[in-house]
Amino acid sequence: MANKKLSEAKNAKNDEFYTQYEDIQREVNAYLEYNPDVFRGKTILLPCDDPEWSNFTRFFAQNFENFGLKKLISTSFAYESKNFKEGYQLSFFETESPEYDEDKTKTHGKIFTLTRDSNKSGAIDIDDLEWHYLEGDGDFRSDEVKALRDEADIIVTNPPFSLYRDFIDWIFEKEKKFIIIGNKNSVTYKEVFPLIMNNKMWSGKTGWGGGMWFETKNPADVDKVVNGINMKNVSSVWFSNIEHGKRHEPLSLMTMADNVKFSKHKEVRDKGYSHYDNYDGIEVPFTDAIPSDYDGIMGVPISFLEKYCPEQFEILGMCENLDLYGLKTKVYTTQECQDRYFELFGKKGTYDLNAAGVVDGIKVYQRILIRKRVQE
Ligand SMILES: C[S@@+](CC[C@H](N)C(=O)[O-])C[C@H]1O[C@@H](n2cnc3c(N)ncnc32)[C@H](O)[C@@H]1O
Repeated sequence: MANKKLSEAKNAKNDEFYTQYEDIQREVNAYLEYNPDVFRGKTILLPCDDPEWSNFTRFFAQNFENFGLKKLISTSFAYESKNFKEGYQLSFFETESPEYDEDKTKTHGKIFTLTRDSNKSGAIDIDDLEWHYLEGDGDFRSDEVKALRDEADIIVTNPPFSLYRDFIDWIFEKEKKFIIIGNKNSVTYKEVFPLIMNNKMWSGKTGWGGGMWFETKNPADVDKVVNGINMKNVSSVWFSNIEHGKRHEPLSLMTMADNVKFSKHKEVRDKGYSHYDNYDGIEVPFTDAIPSDYDGIMGVPISFLEKYCPEQFEILGMCENLDLYGLKTKVYTTQECQDRYFELFGKKGTYDLNAAGVVDGIKVYQRILIRKRVQE
């Protein structure tokens, strides 16, 4: 029985992961390094937050003057509306405020705003945050929060994992600037990949290795405990449509001949590169083994996107997503691809007919198709 409860808790759709201060600081610094005025005069919205203890709110409130912000808005989602309810925390901040309402505390979202030195301390900082309950529960899809989105210049948050696609749609409905956290694999979603391919969204500066550590509220799903705080490692990374320098640093690569001679990967050294059976391109199993002098289409791992420099390569498409075809390039028609799959794998159901790259009759990992840009 106890085990059943534990696994139920583990499987509940849990969106309660809280981002660490240092992770926010490291990433945001990359945009400031590129453009020190990136936030100057801007209104920043932090939706899907928990402003009383969120590091997003703390970080931007503390840097309000430093960044030259015009306005900071942060909203929370009502406790009763959350998928995963564990350990309701009522902050002193709330209970000691004249705004406190025993009925609304669990059912309404909250909005925190920072625009002025409300306590007349001589500086605008975290102590100047003013708040009240929202009309509704703070759902980012509500008209109330949509109006805040429309007012904002830049949206920064770690959105709920379970609603990531909706969140992306929500941002792009108004083509807002953003810095957000998402799962690495989200780049393969059909709602997300075209945005990346068309340079409307890109990887943040923080590297993709090792995932990110978040504070978790689910005691049944913890990877480590640090100073009494439950932490979970999630394969999350930053995404943005704001410029940062790393994005324009080309990868330093060897020629195809040098890779064959010297590559540290045994799959490439002395063997070379395989041509796909079903794409007119070569299989490149590691980003650092991309040959610098190959002009054709190359299938590279998804993690290539961490290092993608749009001046160096163009993204043409992705294997295993037939619904993406027709966007820029197509090597085979859907029907031809499917026919080829039947030929290769015999019967339907053995493999899905989702256009994975195939080498010598064997399906390879999911790949992104790229081509070197011709230098003008
Ligand atoms: C991954 S957590 C991130 C929290 C915080 N931004 C941080 O990183 O520290 C996502 C938050 O979104 C909230 N949430 C879930 N569904 C939501 C919705 N439909 N609208 C607004 N917030 C939502 C969750 O309750 C959770 O607090």
